[in-house]
Amino acid sequence: MKVSPPREKGADDVVLALDGVSRVYGTEVEVRALDDVSLDIRAGEFLSIVGPSGSGKSTMLGLLGVLDLPTEGAIRVRGTDVTRLADAERSRLRGEAIGFVFQQFHLIPHLTALGNVETALLYRGLTPRERRTRAMSALEQVGLGERHDHRPVQMSGGEQQRVAIARAISTDPGVVLADEPTGALDSSNAENVMQIFADLQSPERAICIVTHDMHVADATRRRISMLDGRIVADEALNGGSGMGVDS
Ligand SMILES: Nc1ncnc2c1ncn2[C@@H]1O[C@H](COP(=O)(O)OP(=O)(O)OP(=O)(O)O)[C@@H](O)[C@H]1O
Ligand SMILES: [Mg+2]
Repeated sequence: MKVSPPREKGADDVVLALDGVSRVYGTEVEVRALDDVSLDIRAGEFLSIVGPSGSGKSTMLGLLGVLDLPTEGAIRVRGTDVTRLADAERSRLRGEAIGFVFQQFHLIPHLTALGNVETALLYRGLTPRERRTRAMSALEQVGLGERHDHRPVQMSGGEQQRVAIARAISTDPGVVLADEPTGALDSSNAENVMQIFADLQSPERAICIVTHDMHVADATRRRISMLDGRIVADEALNGGSGMGVDS
């Protein structure tokens, strides 16, 4: 069983926050996908967001990840309200602070695993050698160092998702956000991917996973439940060591 490390000084730092955030889609017919939501994500947290289809989970994750902007309210990345920044500055902060993992992996088919991870490291002033070293290190962290020259078609769904996770962590972000990262996987690959997330969580790196799957949520330490665009529960869980390993 993985025991949570002692909290270090500064571990309570809020890395990502929503403050009174609403998101309304459409003009003629308005859909209030998110309704006055406030949420703090702290350094080192391992949390899940659950709720029925249409409850606003992806909308909330897109706002947390600054892929979208709210109709009302503030999004704070390490204390800075990014809704007030110019586009270029907002993109820069997002690129530095946040890594994403998607349900369908979003890998580039003609690139190797290493090539896919390296794409996240472009335009950062790194030499090709530095990019390669960092990408290899990220692949090793997800247990795929030896598969670095394989293309997505040569890998299982679970392995492809691990490449996508390596890509997300290669920039060393303070938060990794994942929308249904196990949604396209069978249960054993899903378990494997959740174990990787559990292993990657550290005092410096928060991980936030949107999921339909209660087993996945049970592998995290904090579960946020959504309904009709609102947070209806925010609970501490005592699991957090992978799926069904310690219960
Ligand atoms: N681009 C959009 N334009 C209009 N309405 C949208 C858009 N995206 C989402 N919605 C609506 O906002 C609400 C919340 O959607 P969201 O995708 O956040 O839900 P979800 O909880 O992620 O659902 P699922 O579990 O099915 O992925 C839904 O009513 C949805 O139809
Ligand atoms: Mg969704």
